[in-house]
Amino acid sequence: MCGIFAYLNCNVRRERSYILQVLFNGLRRLEYRGYDSAGVSIDSSSVSLPPLVFRQVGNIESLVKSVYQEVDATDLNLEESFVTHAGIAHTRWATHGEPAPRNSHPQSSGAGNDFLVVHNGVVTNYEVLKQTLIRHGFTFESDTDTEVIPKLAKYVFDKSNEESGDMTVTFSQVVLEVMRHLEGAYALIFKSRHYPNELIACKRGSPLLLGVKELTEESSKGSLFHDDKYPSQNGNPRELFLSSDANALVEHTRKVLVIEDGEVVHLKDGGVSILKFDGDKGKRGVLSRPASVQRALSVLEMEVEQINKGSYEHYMQKEIHEQPESLTTTMRGRLIRGGTCKAKTVLLGGLKDHLKTIRRSRRIVFIGCGTSYNAALAARPILEELSGIPVTMEIASDLLDRQGPIYREDTAVFVSQSGETADTLHALEYALQNGALCVGITNTVGSAIARNTHCGVHINAGAEIGVASTKAYTSQIVVMAMLALAIGGDAISNQARREAIIDCLFDLPNKVREVLKLDQEMKDLAKLLIAEQSLLMFGRGYNYATALEGSLKVKEVSLMHSEGILAGEMKHGPLALVDESLPIVVIATHDACFSKQQSVIQQLHARKGRLIVMCSRGDAAAVSLGGACRVIEVPQVEDCLQPVVNIVPLQLLAYHLTVLRGYNVDQPRNLAKSVTTE
Ligand code: UD1
Ligand code: BG6
Repeated sequence: MCGIFAYLNCNVRRERSYILQVLFNGLRRLEYRGYDSAGVSIDSSSVSLPPLVFRQVGNIESLVKSVYQEVDATDLNLEESFVTHAGIAHTRWATHGEPAPRNSHPQSSGAGNDFLVVHNGVVTNYEVLKQTLIRHGFTFESDTDTEVIPKLAKYVFDKSNEESGDMTVTFSQVVLEVMRHLEGAYALIFKSRHYPNELIACKRGSPLLLGVKELTEESSKGSLFHDDKYPSQNGNPRELFLSSDANALVEHTRKVLVIEDGEVVHLKDGGVSILKFDGDKGKRGVLSRPASVQRALSVLEMEVEQINKGSYEHYMQKEIHEQPESLTTTMRGRLIRGGTCKAKTVLLGGLKDHLKTIRRSRRIVFIGCGTSYNAALAARPILEELSGIPVTMEIASDLLDRQGPIYREDTAVFVSQSGETADTLHALEYALQNGALCVGITNTVGSAIARNTHCGVHINAGAEIGVASTKAYTSQIVVMAMLALAIGGDAISNQARREAIIDCLFDLPNKVREVLKLDQEMKDLAKLLIAEQSLLMFGRGYNYATALEGSLKVKEVSLMHSEGILAGEMKHGPLALVDESLPIVVIATHDACFSKQQSVIQQLHARKGRLIVMCSRGDAAAVSLGGACRVIEVPQVEDCLQPVVNIVPLQLLAYHLTVLRGYNVDQPRNLAKSVTTE
């Protein structure tokens, strides 16, 4: 959803055109999250003039075009350079108010752009604040919740200067006071005409990172942090970046500070100072000065190549094809081959101290949304089998709607690629309040879910940019299968089964490599289905999840109606839909449900169903009904890992259908990668 980016060059001369390019490129790196409008703010030619704000509906390229059109019309000099300059930028996903320039960010305090704000998240008490500000003479132009923030900053600034009469209030004091009044989750960057070349970043709930790029040897030796007692004399050249997303930083620097909730990060004179917001609404903070904190920078473990498409046309295509590698990375260091007298085993570093508690729990509850929910559903049978503990499934929003029971004796497992999904996060808060042991399974180190769970496993699938999740899905299943093995422990009764699964995990990347060879076959199938209105997918057992996930992929990106159906429910309704024209995919790979699926195929065929059957290699004759059905043959693996193989042709089918139908495969209509609002 919304994305934040800011660029501050300190003691290094940069032309206005360069600054704009850095801001636009930052926004391009955030595009994948989903957005409907965008905006930037840069400085005018003189500090006595208000900062410039450009906002546009549509994609980044529309914003770029409109900025250059305005530049032409106003004779703004693109070659003018700044030794120090602070620019901010934003991609917006409409929540409060339609996509429109006036609702895009930066939002402003009013005509003189005294304060400008870019915001991710939601201010839940904005109505009350708005009414108060209106009573104080402010007028509002947008429908957003955000607009109260810059206006409140102006109110605080004007009032403190009126009271003290000496203009001594600092930028961070203004922001601290604003924060005292805000409720909800947010990440914010403030820019102000009164504090030129400074930026303030703060957050509560939503992610925000500071990236630091030293431009000389000298600057890397000097301290980045301002010290209260010894104000910085730092004249070394440095570039500072702020973003809600590591993807936008990694091409500039790997040195980052993960900003924590309640921190107010002030970028000024090439240095950084951090104040901790105490959140005490009772105290008036303008004149108080909270203690400053210093923190160590961390190093982003991300390669620039991860966020580029390489030789692929689309991110989704790249991410489908890199699954052999992402699965290898997911398992790296976690599978132990065993030796002559040692058993093969699994080691999940993040869980080893918690396994005893998990084994003692009364139930395991999987909680997630979308693809992450489907991955948990795929792993549920093996977890039940190996752990002997009942496993229940919860869609995060539904758990919250029902306020379903969660107990101290439960282990709640939160599955989320981004680690940011609002519904899943709220369900996590709920489970924490109810005293459950909370385990995270996420792809994003440092995400809210990774930080707020008691323990967990990073799936290490690498950055996933396509909105439709592909490689994260297969890595999530593998992690959950490893979780089942870890919880199941070393019971002798399970040993042969465990070893077979571990052997299969070692070979799984090769099997996925094999199944990827079906690419052309899936493209041909997509050509046949291009004009269809609807596509059903029937699965059961381990592959009920495959039917749900395959159909989710098709509907998300190719905008074709598709429904995943539990084959056991076929006779209880869906059979009514079957006719000669509706295409139906039946997943009938070889496992304990195979004969039941054969019978499903027979019944659908008897009603003249138009069948496409996915079967294990060698089973084509047994399922094709003498050539009446089209067959997709896939390599056979251990039953519990078969969903990892089976989903791949369906991902390819969804991808090709989308490209052939001419839709945007990486940013499907109306969808966002990280859904950070309820
Ligand atoms: C960790 C290191 C990895 C290193 C490996 C071997 C990190 C992020 N990972 O991986 O670089 O190669 O040791 O020494 O430094 N956690 C949660 N919730 C979540 C996800 C994770 O609380 O949703 C916690 C885990 O309980 C653990 C920590 O985060 O304490 C790291 O988890 P993970 O990366 O999965 O651990 P390792 O595989 O041991
Ligand atoms: C969104 C995405 O709806 O959130 C889906 O578009 C995703 O692809 C879902 O599955 C859940 O996201 P996450 O990050 O919690 O796994």
